[in-house]
Amino acid sequence: MDYMNATMTFTGKLLKWYDENKRDLPWRRTKDPYLIWLSEIILQQTRIEQGLPYYEKFATAFPDVRSLSSASETEILKYWQGLGYYSRARNLLEAAHQVMIRFNGKFPSTYAEIRNLRGVGDYTAAAISSIAFQLPYPVVDGNVLRFLSRYFGEEAPIGSAKAKKQIRERALNAMDVEDPGSFNQAMMEFGARYCIPVRPDCKNCVFLSGCFAYNHQVVDQIPVKDKQVLKRIRYFHYLVMRKSDGQRVLMKKRIENDIWKGLYDFPMIETNQPVIFKRLVNIPEWKALTASHSGAGVRKSGVFRHLLTHQVILAQFYEWTTDADLFTHETWISIYDMKNLPVPKLIDNYFHTLDWFV
Ligand code: ADE
Repeated sequence: MDYMNATMTFTGKLLKWYDENKRDLPWRRTKDPYLIWLSEIILQQTRIEQGLPYYEKFATAFPDVRSLSSASETEILKYWQGLGYYSRARNLLEAAHQVMIRFNGKFPSTYAEIRNLRGVGDYTAAAISSIAFQLPYPVVDGNVLRFLSRYFGEEAPIGSAKAKKQIRERALNAMDVEDPGSFNQAMMEFGARYCIPVRPDCKNCVFLSGCFAYNHQVVDQIPVKDKQVLKRIRYFHYLVMRKSDGQRVLMKKRIENDIWKGLYDFPMIETNQPVIFKRLVNIPEWKALTASHSGAGVRKSGVFRHLLTHQVILAQFYEWTTDADLFTHETWISIYDMKNLPVPKLIDNYFHTLDWFV
C-alpha cells in the first residue's frame, strides 16, 4: 500500500479506486435519466454481466419513454423473459405511462417525483437521482450493505431496519457531494466486485487499514445473517395437450396474483406434496382439467426444479394428444408461435427438451 493511500480518507480511496477500476458501461456514457432509470430497474434484478444484454435490447427497442409507453405488456414481458420478478417488468411499463401522463413524457428530476414512480423504491430513487441529477442521496443496496457493514463493524442483522438505517447514515456522512453519482456507483461496484460475500481478497484491499471486520478478523461473520427461513416447496403438474396433427398446443396465460403473472404456461394443478401419476389422475381438479382422461398414452417428463427467492418449484409435464375441444380457442397456440410468448424460465427449459419445439 502506498503512502498516499494510507493517509487518504475513506471517500478519497473509494473515488480513486473507482476512477482506476470502473467498468465502461453504456448507461455510464449517458446523462439521459430515462436510460439510467431503465438500467437501474434491470440491475435491481441481476448482476451487471447478466443485465447488460437486457439493457441493450430494451434501449434499442425503446430508446425513449414514449416508445416504451406504447408497448404492450406481453411485449415487455417477452423482452424481460429470463430476468425473473416479472412484476418489475409490468411496473416498468406502468411507470412509463406515469411519466407520459404526469410529466408529459419528460423524465422527472426530483427525488420525490422519481420515488413516486411505479416500481421505484428508496434504492432505485437514490441511484437515479444521484447518477442522472447529482442529487446527494446514498444508495444502499445489498453490496453496499455488505461492504459498509464490514468496514464499520455493523452488528445488527443485515436484513434489519436498524442495519439499513445505520449504514445509510454512514454512507451519507461519507458521501462526496461534488459527485454523488460516482460515489454511489463506486460503492455498489466495490461491494459487488471486491468486497464479495465469500473470501474477499482482503490482503490487497485499499480499505484494509480502516476496515473493522479485517482488523478484528470477523470478515466471515459480517454481515450478520438474518434468521434463515425455509423455502416453500410447490409441486406443479402440467398438462401439455397437443392436437393430433401436432401443430397446436394448449397454453394458458397466468392471470392470478401469483408468480409469473402475465406469462404463459400450460393448464396445471398444484399440490403441496409430490404425487405420482397414478394418484394424480384421480385428483378431482386434474380430472376436471382432462375430462377424466385415463392417462393412457401420456408422455411424462422428468422433474424440473426451479428456485425462486422464497419458493422451490418442482414441476412435471404430462404430454398427450387430443382433438377434444374442451378449451377456449385463444389458448390453442401454434407450435411456431410458442417461442414468441413470454414464458417463465422453467417453461423455456422444458421447451428446449422437446423434439417438436421449433
Ligand atoms: N448496481 C446497480 N446499479 C449500479 C450502477 N449504476 N453501478 C454499479 N453497480 C450497480
